[in-house]
Amino acid sequence: MRSGIEVRQCGLNIIDLVEDLERRIFRPSEVYTRGFLEWLCENCSNSSYVAVKDGVYVGYIITCIDRPGQGHVVSLGVLAEYRRMGVGRLLMCSSICRLRGIVDSIVLEVRVSNDAAINLYRSLGFRIHHTIPGYYSDGESAYFMVLDNEYLNQAYLKCQCGSEQG
Ligand SMILES: CC(C)(COP(=O)(O)OP(=O)(O)OC[C@H]1O[C@@H](n2cnc3c(N)ncnc32)[C@H](O)[C@@H]1OP(=O)(O)O)[C@@H](O)C(=O)NCCC(=O)NCCS
Repeated sequence: MRSGIEVRQCGLNIIDLVEDLERRIFRPSEVYTRGFLEWLCENCSNSSYVAVKDGVYVGYIITCIDRPGQGHVVSLGVLAEYRRMGVGRLLMCSSICRLRGIVDSIVLEVRVSNDAAINLYRSLGFRIHHTIPGYYSDGESAYFMVLDNEYLNQAYLKCQCGSEQG
């Protein structure tokens, strides 16, 4: 636990809480269907987490292994009133540390306009690999970002991944 924020593994048992967070954080056009969320929580629970502060669920991350050796941050969100407290970073680090020794790269897509998220990812060593034109349903493009090689090793240090993880 850091700064009063506890991270718990995600799973089907808390799917309602994850769904509620998702709907409060993302626009209606961006939320995943219940069925897809259930699939994610079931298949990606090992490297997916929720953040709890003072008993309140304040954020979540869903990270999957979508092919051997590659982790994929599928969704990350923190309630607006709990941002800039380190929750997003803690969630990212939880997935990064969990996948240590399991994957050799972690990838994600992010809106080109999403400066907050891009800054967070850059601070952990993610680099923009390429742009995916019109990736989102409203036509906005995405950056495909990658964390690998020496940047991944540096991320383990930045995240203070313990030897017990990964
Ligand atoms: C992106 C998001 C998850 C960040 O969560 P957070 O808990 O606020 O992030 P942290 O407090 O851990 O911030 C870590 C770093 O990210 C960067 N960052 C976070 N918010 C930022 C902002 N609004 N502007 C600029 N940089 C920002 C900073 O470098 C920050 O470090 P600092 O606070 O020491 O300067 C959050 O803003 C969010 O949920 N946004 C809406 C959903 C979303 O866009 N998800 C990502 C989809 S790809």
